[in-house]
Amino acid sequence: MLRQIMYSSYATSPMSPTSIELLLRKARRANETNEITGLLIHSKSRFIQIFEGPSHAVNDLLRKIECDPRHHSMKIIHDRRSAFRAFPDWEMGFEDNPSPTANDVVVQSMIRMLNSLPVAKAA
Ligand SMILES: Cc1cc2nc3c(=O)[nH]c(=O)nc-3n(C[C@H](O)[C@H](O)[C@H](O)COP(=O)(O)O)c2cc1C
Repeated sequence: MLRQIMYSSYATSPMSPTSIELLLRKARRANETNEITGLLIHSKSRFIQIFEGPSHAVNDLLRKIECDPRHHSMKIIHDRRSAFRAFPDWEMGFEDNPSPTANDVVVQSMIRMLNSLPVAKAA
């Protein structure tokens, strides 16, 4: 059985394309090793991410992400068990400032969720 987490958070300070690129490069490498797949969306200094994989790997990653100083106010949107991966081919798909017309159903619903969060929040 796999575990899938979805959360939202706020960047502690605005992240440059270079710092996001670095984060993604390391994350994808680690995710491949740890059999984690998922999707990360970044928009207006907010993140929304889904990650999934074997329970022990998801537990470990959740603990790391929770104490990562690059973001704060992490809110778990769902935490569920699943027999199948939603993103079998993505070590960590990424969308930056996605357009509201992005035609992927999952991306669309994640953007809607992101847009329903308050726009600004103090650290
Ligand atoms: C928004 C956000 C998403 C992240 N996603 C992942 C991820 O999918 N996989 C990953 O290994 N690290 C991810 N990280 C980085 C982890 O928080 C942590 O820095 C990383 O696992 C390295 O930990 P270690 O060097 O202590 O092993 C993310 C960080 C942030 C801020």
